[in-house]
Amino acid sequence: MDKLLVTGGAGFIGSDFVHYVLANTDSSVTVLDKLTYAGSLASLEGLPEDRFRFVHGDICDAELVNGLFAEHDAVVHYAAESHNDNSLSGPAPFVQTNLIGTFTLLEAARATGVRYHHISTDEVYGDLELDDPERFTEQTPYNPSSPYSSTKAGSDLLVRAWVRSFGVQATISNCSNNYGPRQHVEKFIPRQITNVIDGVRPRLYGQGLNVRDWIHADDHSSAVLRILEKGRIGDTYLIGADGEKSNREVVELILQTMGQEADAYDLVTDRPGHDMRYAIDWSKLRDELGWQPEYRDFAAGLEATIAWYRENEAWWRPQKAEAEAKYAVSGQ
Ligand SMILES: NC(=O)c1ccc[n+]([C@@H]2O[C@H](COP(=O)([O-])OP(=O)(O)OC[C@H]3O[C@@H](n4cnc5c(N)ncnc54)[C@H](O)[C@@H]3O)[C@@H](O)[C@H]2O)c1
Repeated sequence: MDKLLVTGGAGFIGSDFVHYVLANTDSSVTVLDKLTYAGSLASLEGLPEDRFRFVHGDICDAELVNGLFAEHDAVVHYAAESHNDNSLSGPAPFVQTNLIGTFTLLEAARATGVRYHHISTDEVYGDLELDDPERFTEQTPYNPSSPYSSTKAGSDLLVRAWVRSFGVQATISNCSNNYGPRQHVEKFIPRQITNVIDGVRPRLYGQGLNVRDWIHADDHSSAVLRILEKGRIGDTYLIGADGEKSNREVVELILQTMGQEADAYDLVTDRPGHDMRYAIDWSKLRDELGWQPEYRDFAAGLEATIAWYRENEAWWRPQKAEAEAKYAVSGQ
């Protein structure tokens, strides 16, 4: 895998993967990114110039995509519309980028035979009850709740069909919720951290009981690299790190770590169709590919993430007012 093409590499997890690959391998990386409101060139600063190239463009542009596939050994597809709340207020770009964009990449993979890895989410499986002893596995039936998760589910199914019908050399991974540096402030953890920095009380949907299974973005990146190098073509791998926490627990930890009272937050109207709990069984990745997460201590990872947002206000400040204006419309 000397030459990697990474779509959506100016976003949160895509940029983490680009930094991870350039720091831990000799590969060169090209990023293809449209730079939507969620993409930031600042997330790609400091990379080695001789091994990194940025291409500004849309994954739905077949001519551009075909040309780029032909120049690379493998493609890792992160580009997406990724925010559930936005998918409720305006689903059209989710259908366009997540479905048509993936279709465009798969057709290029079919034409060129290039190795393709598809990044997806555990949200395709719907949700679990709080007291359900089960966790999601690779066999769990798809049951998405939102326009975001349904377009991601649809994109996964396109990949499976292109593998089976056309022999495309693809793998899929479905990961739980990521945290770490360079995540857009519209997302749960950065929103709460930057609100506290701004002296604004954090806001929790509903009663704050919803559970997410947190994983550090670097662990997601190391797992993706492992699957790209060693995964079985046509297979799906779940990525997680045993990080189940209720939203309330996370906010209380953020507040305490930032020197506030643990209960200094407000409850607001719940998100429609809000999934209750996600939980990942990642034993296939461990047993078949020998992967392990490195960030086992959520409190320590969160503390480092808080420090990053404190030290990098210039990165997130330009996003903050627009993100909060969107939440203000729904009273959240
Ligand atoms: N954030 C999570 O917790 C999480 C968990 C599991 C899976 N995922 C998946 O990981 C991927 C990346 O998520 P993220 O949180 O980094 O998202 P993000 O919103 O931070 O970044 C998305 C990136 O894609 C780019 N993009 C959007 N539309 C594009 C288009 N048409 N053409 C080219 N580029 C385009 C944006 O400019 C941005 O840089 C997504 O596929 C998401 O479903 C995310």
